[in-house]
Amino acid sequence: MTDILGVIGHPINHSLSPVFQQAALDHLGINKIFEKWDVTPENLEGKIKSFRNNSFIASCVTLPHKQNVIPLIDDLTDSAKSIGAVNWIYKNNNKLVGDNTDSSGFIRALTEKYNFIPEDKTALVFGAGGASRAIIFGLIKSGVKKIILSNRNFDKADIVSKELSTNKVKIEPIIYTRDSLANYAPYSDIIINTTSLGMAGGPAPMKTPITSDLISSTTFGYDIVYSPLITPFIKEFEKSGAEYGTGLSMLLYQGVEGIEKALNIKAPINVMQKALDAL
Ligand code: ATR
Repeated sequence: MTDILGVIGHPINHSLSPVFQQAALDHLGINKIFEKWDVTPENLEGKIKSFRNNSFIASCVTLPHKQNVIPLIDDLTDSAKSIGAVNWIYKNNNKLVGDNTDSSGFIRALTEKYNFIPEDKTALVFGAGGASRAIIFGLIKSGVKKIILSNRNFDKADIVSKELSTNKVKIEPIIYTRDSLANYAPYSDIIINTTSLGMAGGPAPMKTPITSDLISSTTFGYDIVYSPLITPFIKEFEKSGAEYGTGLSMLLYQGVEGIEKALNIKAPINVMQKALDAL
């Protein structure tokens, strides 16, 4: 039986991971197929059980399973534990270990691709779901000075701020209104969208959490949504003359970190980037 790698999610057709991961495997001459597994929440337990077969190596985990896999696996890395979400599962000494590379992948995208160094910066983050937690964790680890957190549901922002604030970095939850944003957005060094606003096929594909009148031209914008590549949020940064980064970079780097740990290899980043650019 061939060894298997893949990605679990539902729906899964949109996933770009098989494309750029397969490009990496082929480039390195590794004779394995990176599969795409459509796993409904009802079938999750059975699928994770099948990962205990000898042939399983690793799997990416995408929506809606990033939290639900936790009770079904054996161990978590420190980042997965702190963030409370898993985006990779590896087989390690016959144990299934959950990791979170969204966090480090986001920071590598910011620093390596866009040359934005979070140290001593003020960040405004929209959203309080799993992606937000990963990004906040990464920003704190990278020495950010302050984090402002805005979410439609304030209570969720309040919980995240209580759980992830540290002695050094206090996360300040704020309400999701224009007036409130006007006090913070123009003074932020970076503004990050972790909500699903602007996502094609999502609940609000035409919406953005912020408009250009509140964006300073010196603020860096980053949207984790990558479909479309230029989201309504990014268009507001273009209007302000501000620089920005697009979500495919975080997708790429979370995948680079994951495949490196899964196979103990050096990932061919340029080959993976090219495979994404060709889409
Ligand atoms: P993920 O794990 O990918 O972060 P999630 O946990 O479903 O996904 O979180 C989605 C985020 O998008 C939440 O912050 C959500 O806000 P609420 O907590 O108020 O639900 C945000 N979001 C989704 N649709 C939204 C909308 N129409 N307006 C504002 N925020 C929205």
